[in-house]
Amino acid sequence: MAVTADDVRAQLKTIKGPDGADLVSSGKLSEIAVTNGKVFLSLTVDANAVKQWEPVRKAAEDAVRAIPGISSALIALTAERTAGPAPARAAPAQPAAGGARAAPGIPGIQSVIAVASGKGGVGKSTTAVNLALGLRDLGMKVGVLDADIYGPSMPRLLAIKGRPESIGGRMLRPMEAYGMKVMSIGFLIEEETPMIWRGPMVMSAITQMLREVEWGELDVLVVDMPPGTGDAQLTLAQQVPLAGAVIVSTPQDLALIDARRGIAMFRKVDVPVLGVVENMSYFLCPHCGERSDVFSHGGAKKEAERLGAPFLGEVPLVMEIRETSDAGLPIVATKPDSAHAKIYREIASRVRGALERKQGGRAAPKIVIES
Ligand SMILES: Nc1ncnc2c1ncn2[C@@H]1O[C@H](COP(=O)(O)OP(=O)(O)OP(=O)(O)O)[C@@H](O)[C@H]1O
Ligand SMILES: [Mg+2]
Repeated sequence: MAVTADDVRAQLKTIKGPDGADLVSSGKLSEIAVTNGKVFLSLTVDANAVKQWEPVRKAAEDAVRAIPGISSALIALTAERTAGPAPARAAPAQPAAGGARAAPGIPGIQSVIAVASGKGGVGKSTTAVNLALGLRDLGMKVGVLDADIYGPSMPRLLAIKGRPESIGGRMLRPMEAYGMKVMSIGFLIEEETPMIWRGPMVMSAITQMLREVEWGELDVLVVDMPPGTGDAQLTLAQQVPLAGAVIVSTPQDLALIDARRGIAMFRKVDVPVLGVVENMSYFLCPHCGERSDVFSHGGAKKEAERLGAPFLGEVPLVMEIRETSDAGLPIVATKPDSAHAKIYREIASRVRGALERKQGGRAAPKIVIES
């Protein structure tokens, strides 16, 4: 018999919170997701009481894990900020001095950058992987975090099979591919498993992938963001200590409007936009090598300049990028001598430059165009 949410609830009834109430009666439980013997849920607690709740969270996880038929349990504390720092959503862009941000850094990780777009399907994940590999080729220690909980891409894009091992019951060891450390919810749940996540659960899953994974020493962690600019993305951008964001856009006008939205979203939470990549910028005929500007290419560059965001480069629409991506053989790793790999390496080098300028205490330069 498959374990149900009710079985989990019955078990949680035996655990008491710091206030003496059992977890079910406490009103702090999120919905309980049970899939193939794996349980996910969160406890929403007062941010000031997190210390007292931590042992309870642990005890609850152990109790759930002890249910026959359960192979893993992930219980996260989601802070309810009743006192102290302003709630994440209410804070309208207060330009924080020196880029001070609510989210604390992650020990060992120098910079976290997000690869995002306003719209789905523009090639964020493809860009994230090849950019990460480009940074690796510059000699950086690189990790990749797949923050797309609904449609994780990294298991496929990097052809990673297997599950992360747990270290000492608490931390997970990330997977590795092409010399990079990689974490994705796709390693933890079965592919094709439809998951319904509530907001707080999305946040706690991402927070755990960020903070309860042995990333070790990294120069940069590249986060492949989920599509869109909704609340979830906004919260994510605030929870993750971002050094900056790379916006991916296709050249079509519509996508550009979305890109603008993407840029606005990061500005709102005071995350510097490291630059814009125009993906599927032009079409390169695989037979004759002729280039055609299918979507009136160059729009992203103009738009980036207009918005004062650096332009990082343009990646053509080519079969080879799609094929290598889908086969888990990213082009920068498997065809390093190709012209396309070179483009990604150039983008990587501009991203590194932007990060260095930022670390040097100077803001990314504004591009001024004369005309
Ligand atoms: N430059 C390119 N040339 C050819 N195909 C590409 C290129 N960039 C991405 N693709 C292909 O387009 C599809 C969508 O790309 P990808 O999954 O990276 O987009 P995404 O923005 O991450 O999507 P989602 O919003 O669903 O997360 C994939 O099949 C990918 O292989
Ligand atoms: Mg994606």
